Amino acid sequence: MIALTVIACLLLLPSLAAAQASTAPARPSKLGLCSACHGVDGVSRAPGTPHLAGQDRQYLVRALSDYRSGKRQHVPMTSLANTLQPKDIEALAAWYAAQPGFKKGSAQ
Ligand code: HEC
Repeated sequence: MIALTVIACLLLLPSLAAAQASTAPARPSKLGLCSACHGVDGVSRAPGTPHLAGQDRQYLVRALSDYRSGKRQHVPMTSLANTLQPKDIEALAAWYAAQPGFKKGSAQ
């Protein structure tokens, strides 16, 4: 019985690995525009800059779309978001939402 369970697990492993690989977001091409302030990992590098790691993906899409449309105004986010296409916004939101959340005191 144990042997059967082990065999079943071994058979399942490759499909689990494949599922994880396909759900991990690809590194967005525009990430370099954001990392100086928000970090590649979504942990803010500058005082007054919000952490994005682990934030709700839909919220990030809305925030960036609001900067882009001018509904939400903040220098430099409004002008930065103007350079983003909706597909960039989706990619960046998925990336930052998938990063592990920051821990208190991890900002520099
Ligand atoms: C020069 C520094 C800087 C850069 C570069 C920058 N940001 Fe920001 N970002 C900020 C600051 C400061 C705020 C807070 C603005 C506010 O109060 O509305 C912010 C806010 C945000 C928010 C809203 C967070 C929230 O909790 O509401 C998102 C999402 C965001 N930035 C994403 C990005 C993305 C994606 C990029 C790259 C395209 C980027 N930022 C580049 C400084 C920066």
